[in-house]
Amino acid sequence: MLTSVEEPQPIPAPASSPPRVARVIAIANQKGGVGKSTTAVNLGGWLALEDYRVLIVDLDPQANASTGVGVDPRRAPATVYDVLVDERQVEDAIEPTAVKGLFCLPSNIDLAGAEIEMVPMLSREMRLKRALAPILEQFDFILIDCPPSLGLLTVNALVAAGEVLVPIQCEYYALEGVGQLLKNVQLIRSSLNAGLRLAGIVLTMYDARTKLAEEVENQVRGHFSGRVFKSVIPRSVRLAEAPSFGQPAALYDPKSKGAQAYRHLALEVLGKPDPSAKSPALAPTSVEPARSAVAAPPAEGPADAPMDTLAKATEEFEASRTSFRTSFLPEDESEPRPDDGPTPAEDPHPAPDEAPPEASTAYAHHYDGDHERGGDA
Ligand SMILES: Nc1ncnc2c1ncn2[C@@H]1O[C@H](COP(=O)(O)OP(=O)(O)O)[C@@H](O)[C@H]1O
Ligand SMILES: [Mg+2]
Repeated sequence: MLTSVEEPQPIPAPASSPPRVARVIAIANQKGGVGKSTTAVNLGGWLALEDYRVLIVDLDPQANASTGVGVDPRRAPATVYDVLVDERQVEDAIEPTAVKGLFCLPSNIDLAGAEIEMVPMLSREMRLKRALAPILEQFDFILIDCPPSLGLLTVNALVAAGEVLVPIQCEYYALEGVGQLLKNVQLIRSSLNAGLRLAGIVLTMYDARTKLAEEVENQVRGHFSGRVFKSVIPRSVRLAEAPSFGQPAALYDPKSKGAQAYRHLALEVLGKPDPSAKSPALAPTSVEPARSAVAAPPAEGPADAPMDTLAKATEEFEASRTSFRTSFLPEDESEPRPDDGPTPAEDPHPAPDEAPPEASTAYAHHYDGDHERGGDA
């Protein structure tokens, strides 16, 4: 079932009839390390394996999405920097990947300067949108992997996109900054891109051994009812390993729990029925499904409610977080943990009362992480 190609693939020709226009999805969260690049690579991988033509636009100077699909940024003849700053044709910079139908517009460290170089430029917020315009009919999906900031690059992504997908890591500070991101989305809706909608929130790095992960999920679903994908991405060794092989997990280890979680996310994004859904009663909080299996954006739904409401909900969440956090902190850790400190989610030897045997079943799609068995193939 998996298709990998040895020969370089040409960029797809525009679909004949009827002409289809890509769904452009910005994957954004100004926090680093929440799973944006992993989501771009793995969602992109599965969408391509479902026979859609997919372009990943790497908009982060760290180039993790580029390397994650096997494109070496140092060898790329042209990058998204040349496209944004030097108005190079986008086709010149698009690279094929090991997955048939999956392409990458790579980034490299030059992009770090673009944020400043673009400031005096004409229509600086529209440059990515304009660059992508000629290829919208050549792809079904364009996934934009945003940098961990709300600067001009992310603004370019939000202006070019029709939808924004927000990965949230299941940890203490899950929603930190998400209120600000949603406010920016609302600002862009009211100025430069009225059609921008929230595709949904995806919970990442879920560790089924911790009550914390379950609690974060319940809180996030409580505050963002109807906007959180059913698919929850587990903490998975395979997902973390795959980038060093330059492959989406869909190629590296398609049966692994992490890969399968992203497959289900791809099906949700496509609005395709999920064969493994247990019962409708278990899946009340799904985002609105797409109207059809073609790459049309989902129908208007609750996810299109004013973003202000969402931003407010996030702030309420952040306010309530203090008490919620305290109840899960170890007794000797009443101060916020340092960014690099260990978390219960990383503790290989959780206390018995911190290691519930079952993942939350309140919401349908959980995949146990594969950390404890050292792999899940
Ligand atoms: N579900 C997961 N399980 C285990 N590791 C993950 C998972 N998602 C991401 N990672 C790892 O966490 C780190 C940060 O993820 P990444 O996708 O690069 O985040 P971002 O793009 O938001 O900065 C990377 O090393 C990545 O391999
Ligand atoms: Mg990244």
